Parts: sequence; C-alpha cells; structure tokens
Amino acid sequence: MSFNTIYLMLMLVRMAPALPLIFLLMIHSVSSAGWGVSYSPSHICALKNSSVIMSCTYTYPTGHQIKKVFWTKVFIRGNNKNKGIDPPDLSNDIEYSQRLQYLGDKQQNCTIRLSHVTLKDSHMYYFRFITDKDKWTGKTGVTLSVTDLQVESPERVTEGDSVRLTCKSSCTLTDRATFIWYRNSQPLTERRDRNNELLLQSVRREDAGRYSCAVHGHNHISPAVQLNVTYPPKKALVSISPSGETVSGDSVTLICSSDSNPPAEISWFKGGTFVGSGRIYNISKISSDDSGEYKCRSINEHGEKYSDAVTLNVMCELMMVQ
Ligand SMILES: *[C@@H]1O[C@H](CO)[C@@H](O)[C@H](O)[C@H]1NC(C)=O
Ligand SMILES: *[C@@H]1O[C@H](CO)[C@@H](O)[C@H](O)[C@H]1NC(C)=O
Ligand SMILES: *[C@@H]1O[C@H](CO)[C@@H](O)[C@H](O)[C@H]1NC(C)=O
Repeated sequence: MSFNTIYLMLMLVRMAPALPLIFLLMIHSVSSAGWGVSYSPSHICALKNSSVIMSCTYTYPTGHQIKKVFWTKVFIRGNNKNKGIDPPDLSNDIEYSQRLQYLGDKQQNCTIRLSHVTLKDSHMYYFRFITDKDKWTGKTGVTLSVTDLQVESPERVTEGDSVRLTCKSSCTLTDRATFIWYRNSQPLTERRDRNNELLLQSVRREDAGRYSCAVHGHNHISPAVQLNVTYPPKKALVSISPSGETVSGDSVTLICSSDSNPPAEISWFKGGTFVGSGRIYNISKISSDDSGEYKCRSINEHGEKYSDAVTLNVMCELMMVQ
C-alpha cells in the first residue's frame, strides 16, 4: 500500500463521516415505517384521587397480528425488536392493577383509565405492543403529573387590608377547572377573583377562619389554612363588681373589657393619673380617698380606645357599731 493510497483513504474517511449516518437513518426510518404510538395529550396534570384517561393510538405495518398489548412505566432502550426481556406490565403491579382499566382494543386504540391517582403515580407511562413478528414501545410516553391543592395566604392581615388567597397546584390544571373555596368548611360563594384566587377586599374580622379549596367535580380538598385578621380595640367597657353602693372597707374590682386582635394591653386611670395595668383592677379595703372617675385604656399595635369614665363613690360606714 503506497503512502498516497493511505492518504486518500484517510481523506475519504474524513470527508464522508455523514454518509454512513444518513444511510443508517434511512434504513432505520424505512424499517420503522408504520410503527408508532401517539398520546394525546402527551402531558396530563391530574388532581390527586381523580381518574385519568390516557388517550393513545398505535400503528404498525400491515400483515402483523397483535398478540399482546400493555402499559409500562419502564422504558428499555433498544428493546423494540424481538429480543430482550419485556418491561413489567402495569396490570401485574399491585399498586396499579385495581386502578387500571384498558379501554382500547387490539387494533389501534390503546387508551387506558387510571383511577384514584396518587402523587406517587407521577411518572412517564409507555404503551407496548407485541405482534406475531415484532414488539414496539414508543420512544416517548405520556407524562402524568399528579398534584394536590394548597392554599397560599398571608398568615395575618389587618382589618381593611385587601388579601388574595391562591389555590396552588404543582402543575397547571385545565382551564375548565372551577375552584371552590371554603371557610371553616362552609362553601363561599362571594368574591371569586381570578379562577384559582379568592380576593377578600377590605377584610373584616369575620373573614378570619380556616380556608381550604377544591376543584369542582373532584373530591380532593386542600388542607385548611388559618387566616388571622388583626384589628384595633373596638370599644372599652368598664364594669364594677360588686355593683351598687361601695362602702369603705369593701373590696372592689374594676374590669375592662375590649375586643381586639392581638389582645390589648390595658391601663387604668383615675382622673388623668395612671393607677395600674391589667384587665382587672382590684382595690381592697377601699376608702373615701379612692372615690373618683376611673377609665381604662385598651391599646394594641393597631390602635387604642378609652372607656367612658365611671364614677366610684365610696360611702363612709354610717352605722358604726359602738
Ligand atoms: C379509544 O377508545 C376510547 C374508549 O373506548 C374512546 O373514548 C376513544 O374515542 C377511542 N379513540 C379513538 C382515536 O378511536
Ligand atoms: C377518593 O375518591 C373516592 C370516590 O371517587 C372517595 O370515596 C374517597 O373518599 C376519596 N378519597 C379521598 C382521600 O379524598
Ligand atoms: C393572630 O395573630 C395575633 C398576633 O400575632 C396573635 O396574638 C393571635 O393569637 C393570632 N390568632 C390566631 C387565631 O392565630
């Protein structure tokens, strides 16, 4: 072999790397003409515990007779031809066998229904068929994503704020999904904003509660999420115990009630002077010096409120013994 011949051969190898590849591709596509599996849609987003239809059709060259059809989660590369082991048949899998129903036929329709889907079912699934002469699994399968629902909401809002609750899914459900909202397990009909959102405009304290969401026609409900509505003290009210006349030497209790979230801090004033704090103000062995106008102040981070003044009039003991 002369140097020139070797050189020429090297040149040929260098120049023509694409040729054998094209040739192989042609052989491949000729031999696989007519073989195919197609899924429509090829991605499915399904709600936990719902039933899923995986629509599927398949084709093969004429002259073949279908011997076996099945679905699998395992794609074995290069196992399309009549060799190697078959991937496991889902209908033999105890996780699936009760929930899987083949709706297709042994001609061209390979549709299945999978019911009560779980998050663990999220996977790619393949249809495989075996003829009297050959075997086939499509290269890509149908992707199933199973989602649950989660309410996303701020933990705490202040009365008057506008708040948006979102019903989240990990994949996009169809546009036809209609969301339902619950507060403390009661369905809400009002103020549906965008499809999976609940808009509470100008939140009131009555809006506080446990929120959950669902999709119409499905029995999966999201876990409930607590919405906490904070607000300033509404009003402060003083009550005196015991009621009625106060006689010196008695023990008297003043109670300040006010509604707020978070709970307010209470201070007591006699005249204009601070005399104590806490919801309950106790005066034991009251004397005429304690007579006067009392009021309480209720305060939290959202505001404050003073009660009306109450007058404590301490009588002297008139009927002294001895
Ligand atoms: C396949 O079979 C299913 C169930 O019987 C049916 O709903 C569907 O329309 C069929 N698909 C085709 C392409 O024939
Ligand atoms: C799942 O759906 C079935 C009815 O299709 C229902 O009886 C069952 O309670 C559901 N399970 C859960 C956990 O929601
Ligand atoms: C709401 O938030 C306030 C302020 O953080 C807290 O004091 C209160 O306990 C919360 N209430 C509920 C029901 O979570």
